[in-house]
Formats: sequence, C-alpha cells, structure tokens
Amino acid sequence: MNHSVEHKPEQAILRVLSGKSSEDPFPLFAQLRDMGSVIPIPIPMGESDNQAWIVTHLEEAMKVLKDQEHFCVDPKSIHKNSKIQDSLIGKTDSSSSSLFLSNSLNAIDEPDHKRLRTLVSKAFTPRYMESLRPRVQKLAVELLDKVQDQGEMDLVKDFANPLPVNVISDMIGVPKSDHPMIHEWSEGIANGLGLGTSNPQTTESLKEFGDYIKELVAHKRKQPSDDLISQLIAIEEEGDRLDERELISMLQLLIFAGHETTSTLISTGTLMLLDHPDQLEMVKANHSLIPAAVEEMLRFNGPSTIGGPRYALKDHVLGGKQIKRGDMIFPLLKSANRDGKHFANSEELDVTRNIKRHLAFGQGVHMCLGAPLARVEGDIAFTTLLSRMPNLRLSIPREDVKWKFKLAAQGLESLPVSF
Ligand code: HEM
Repeated sequence: MNHSVEHKPEQAILRVLSGKSSEDPFPLFAQLRDMGSVIPIPIPMGESDNQAWIVTHLEEAMKVLKDQEHFCVDPKSIHKNSKIQDSLIGKTDSSSSSLFLSNSLNAIDEPDHKRLRTLVSKAFTPRYMESLRPRVQKLAVELLDKVQDQGEMDLVKDFANPLPVNVISDMIGVPKSDHPMIHEWSEGIANGLGLGTSNPQTTESLKEFGDYIKELVAHKRKQPSDDLISQLIAIEEEGDRLDERELISMLQLLIFAGHETTSTLISTGTLMLLDHPDQLEMVKANHSLIPAAVEEMLRFNGPSTIGGPRYALKDHVLGGKQIKRGDMIFPLLKSANRDGKHFANSEELDVTRNIKRHLAFGQGVHMCLGAPLARVEGDIAFTTLLSRMPNLRLSIPREDVKWKFKLAAQGLESLPVSF
C-alpha cells in the first residue's frame, strides 16, 4: 500500500485523538488498519490499570458500537467511582454548568439512556426534522444573498458555520439575536475537547453556556412557544418527564452536537469537491446526486474521528485481542469508513457510490439522533451553494488551507472561495 510510514503509529494516533496533530491522518489510519483491527495504544489520560485500544476496521467498530452486552459508554457502569470521564473531557471543576456531556444522552447507559432517548425522540422525530426543509432553505438563501455580490467569501465564516448554528438555535427556541453567542460558546467548548486536555476558555464557555440555557428554560417555562425547549418541557411519557438537570444537559448536547459537526460537513465537503474537480462537475451537472454525494463525504472524511469511547463490561476477545473488563476502546470511525473490505477503492471519493452503511453517525443505540437533520442541511447547503455559485473555486493556494483539529469534529479554520 502506498502511504508514508509512521514509526510509532500507536503514539501518532494519540496526537490525532487529542487534537494535537495537524497531519493528514489517513495514511496513519491505513497503516493502523494494516496492523490489525484492534490495536493497543497507551492510555490517553495517564495512569490506569487498564489498557486502551483503537478499533480500525468496520466490522469490529460496528460490534463495539452495537454490542451492549460487552461495551458501555459510562465507565461508572463498571467502577462506581471512576474519574475517567471527567479527565477525558478536560473538566477542571465540578461546579461549572457542566453536567455537560458527562450526564447527557451520549454518555449514559441503559436503562437511563433509553428513557431519555425515548423522551427526546418524541420531539425530535425524523418527520419533524424533514419538515424543517423550508426553514433551512430560507436560512441558506439569506446567507448567500449577503455575499453574492462580493464575488468571494470565507465559506466557513459566511456559510458553513452560521447555517447549522442558526438552524439548531432556531429549532430549540434561542432568539435570533443570541445565535452568535451560542456559536462562540460552542466553539470555545469544542476547541477544548481534546482527550485529556483542559483549558480555561473551555471552562468559561461551559459555564456561560450552561447559565444561558438555564435562564432560557426558566423563561420558556413561563412563556412556552412553538419550539423544542417548550416541547421538551411539556413532554410526558408514562408519567415520566425530563427533570431540570436532564433538560439542560440535553439542550446543551443538542446545540453542541447539532452544529459543529454539520458545519464541518459543509466546509470540508466543499473542499472535497474542489479537490476532486471531476466529482464536482458530475454533481453540478446533476443535483439529484447531492444526497449520495453527502453520504460519500460522510464516509470519505466525516466530521467525527471517533465515536465516544466505550468501556469493556467483560473480559472477551475482539479482533483476536484479549480485552479485559474496564478497558477503554475507541472506535476509529474515519478509519472504519475507509475499510477496503467494505468499500471498493476506499481511499477514493466517488459521489456515485452506492453506500449501504457507513459509521459517520455511529451505530446502535447511541447512533446520531440528529442524522436526518444533518442530511437535510447537507443536501440544502450543497444544492443552494452550487446553484447560486456554480463557478465556485478556491481563492488561496490549496496548501494554505488551514485545518482546525478538535475531538468532536475535524474542521477548517477558513475556506476563502470566489465565484
Ligand atoms: C454531519 C453531522 C453530524 C455527525 C457527523 C454526527 C455524528 C455523531 C456520532 C458519530 C454520534 C455517535 C457517537 C457515539 O456513539 O459515541 C452522534 C450522536 C449524537 N448526535 Fe450527532 N452528528 C451530526 C449531527 C447532529 C445533529 C444535527 C444533532 C442534533 C441536532 C446531533 C445530535 C446527536 C445526539 C443527541 C447524539 C447522542 C445520541 C445518543 O447517545 O443516543 N448530531 N452524532
């Protein structure tokens, strides 16, 4: 296989997982896949009696994501007093609003997960997300209207970032004037979410973000309207409802998960098309290819490098390796999505590929709740962009495009384009 060889791939992957790498990670992923489907790596947070592993092939990564008999997401399901999760997300103090991520849907196991997911799914149905199309379309057009006459824009700042933040904030019930603040906090949080990292800006953003959501919930309790917060407040399921903590935590997760990743899909997806002019021409000539192209972008270089870490509930063998109870496992989604056993010419972008499944949204009970919305946004973003700006091209040399690495999403700092 033709790729540059990393001498210590197990160390190099830690740099990628902690957001400290600015390299193109795909040659490393290919190298790791050649080494095996399940590979031991040093534990990212320092001391532990347990081993950490990365899972590089699709089949084994699916198993980790789906098999609840052997894997969980909350280390406390194994050791009651585990501190792993706290250090993982760089929490430095326990007071900051910061139920964030540690108590939210993605980080809790059954039966609590099922209870919360059932409650939120009542408001967040695929049909509802599909019904947002006209609103998303309007927001996309408004953003491009602002820059159309200039003949150039920073696609990240002017389009890819504001579109999803406006969509999710609108949907949740954040007033329009506060959308930029939400974006700022969310950025601050995302930038600090490397494995084992901790920075003061993240803690500050977490606190302000949490306080803001609390106030907003209090306001909606008094004055409900046609938005997701009001629906979540009202929802009852068999006498059950979200308590205050759960509600706040859920809203934080939805806002956070709902836009960084989707922004990244739009900005890096555009770059993928610009990097592959033949694919871009095909899509431009036939917009009905766009939903398939979005799926291929998600497979080829989807926003999430890994699924949230899993922990082994029992000793067992995975991919020929002996996993011990308590071991930490990272499903490497971007690598699984390039697994040559499942995708022909897996290192190539092919917008006509007929993809049956990929792991960009995860799998199993924690599979992305917002996937239908992300797909609607991706479809509308690329359709609107390519209709309005068919001559889209990079306005800086390709090597000057700057990547921005963070745990949840691997995005672009900026993408100057002309049209
Ligand atoms: C392209 C955009 C997106 C990508 C690539 C993405 C990716 C993912 C992945 C990989 C997971 C599973 C993590 C795991 O199993 O450890 C996940 C979960 C989740 N995502 Fe997304 N996501 C996207 C957009 C969204 C949007 C728009 C929303 C909400 C508006 C959202 C809300 C969630 C939630 C709530 C979960 C946790 C589900 C659970 O644990 O039951 N995501 N996402």
